Amino acid sequence: MTETRQGNGSAIVLIGPDGAFLNSVAAAITQNAGAAVVIPEAVEAAARRPEIDGAAAVVVELDARRRESLVALQGLALRLFGRAPVLVLTDSVDDALIRWFLQIRISDLLRKPVEPKDVIKACLRALKASASLPDDGSQIFSFIPAAGGVGATTLAIETAMLLRRAAPRESDSVCLVDLDFQNGACADYLDLEPRLDLAEIGPHPERLDLQLLEIMLTRHASGLMLLAAKGQPAQSPKVDTDVVVRLLDLVSTRFESVVLDVPRFWMPWTDQVLLGSNRVYVVTDMTVPGLRLGRRMATSLSERLPELKPRVIVNRFEQQMLFGTGLRRADVERALEGYLEGTVANNYKLVREAIDRGLPLDGVKSGSNVSTDLKRIVLAQTAAE
Ligand SMILES: Nc1ncnc2c1ncn2[C@@H]1O[C@H](COP(=O)(O)OP(=O)(O)OP(=O)(O)O)[C@@H](O)[C@H]1O
Ligand SMILES: [Mg+2]
Repeated sequence: MTETRQGNGSAIVLIGPDGAFLNSVAAAITQNAGAAVVIPEAVEAAARRPEIDGAAAVVVELDARRRESLVALQGLALRLFGRAPVLVLTDSVDDALIRWFLQIRISDLLRKPVEPKDVIKACLRALKASASLPDDGSQIFSFIPAAGGVGATTLAIETAMLLRRAAPRESDSVCLVDLDFQNGACADYLDLEPRLDLAEIGPHPERLDLQLLEIMLTRHASGLMLLAAKGQPAQSPKVDTDVVVRLLDLVSTRFESVVLDVPRFWMPWTDQVLLGSNRVYVVTDMTVPGLRLGRRMATSLSERLPELKPRVIVNRFEQQMLFGTGLRRADVERALEGYLEGTVANNYKLVREAIDRGLPLDGVKSGSNVSTDLKRIVLAQTAAE
């Protein structure tokens, strides 16, 4: 990697196989007292580099005929959305592709051959435009279970409810999204009708806009908004990554806080969804296999996607020794090798009653041990940010 840095501001990151050209752009940027970093690799190889996350702007030079480059570009655009503009530099584009670049929120498109000074001008324009936009600042919390039935859905719903209560009374600023398109339980747990019609969106993802999203949301009496698919339990729904990314992009534009109930089985879009989240909670329960699975999932996620920083929540925590195995909090911490974010009390009666009556936990009993524990985990961090 060639790196040219000046000043303390964050750098413009230039990614692409044409290292010689990108270096000439970087040299021109530094001459103008800016800072630039060149990663002379195709975007699919460079997309996970840590320098990208602190970038002021990212310029991606690519061959638009390479599908893997386009997929990586989309992931990058999603990750940086609202944080840094992404510009594309390429030579072969048709109208359909230009439209797609717009959809994935590419700030500007430059056609090769192009002069370094034109790239700089485009970057400055994009930086100026993004600075004048209000900070989208939405927070995305993902909950993913390490094993079946550990309570990920329960904790996702309660987190959404906590965030809802912490927001101004009349605002509908929090959305819970059930990404388990096949066996989602959020709508049932809240006794709501799911309205997301994937069969309608599937063939025409480009039609998906804020207006259509509005029709597919369901409002809970608390003010929480739910996006959940009309269930198709006997079919395996094939939902394209494009559709999921676009849905989440719209949801995060529309809402300040978004909570995702992510299914345990890996989908082609799971990595991208997690990468687009501000916080990823792996949920497990307080059993020996549960702790092992929790650690395994957190370790493998952070090895593969280091910027995720997954944290583990141990649900159904019991103070006393567990089933005579002598498992205590210190053992739980040790078993999770530093990934433990917190524990949530076991309260079967309360959770069961809430589910059966289609109520949030506070609707059954306010200030329960389950919601106090969760509040400590979720709201303490929100306040610290
Ligand atoms: N803190 C808790 N105390 C007691 N019971 C709980 C707690 N959290 C969840 N449960 C119970 O565990 C069961 C599974 O919960 P939930 O559906 O939230 O799990 P999940 O991880 O989403 O499962 P799935 O793998 O089906 O997606 C439910 O019956 C729920 O009542
Ligand atoms: Mg679930």
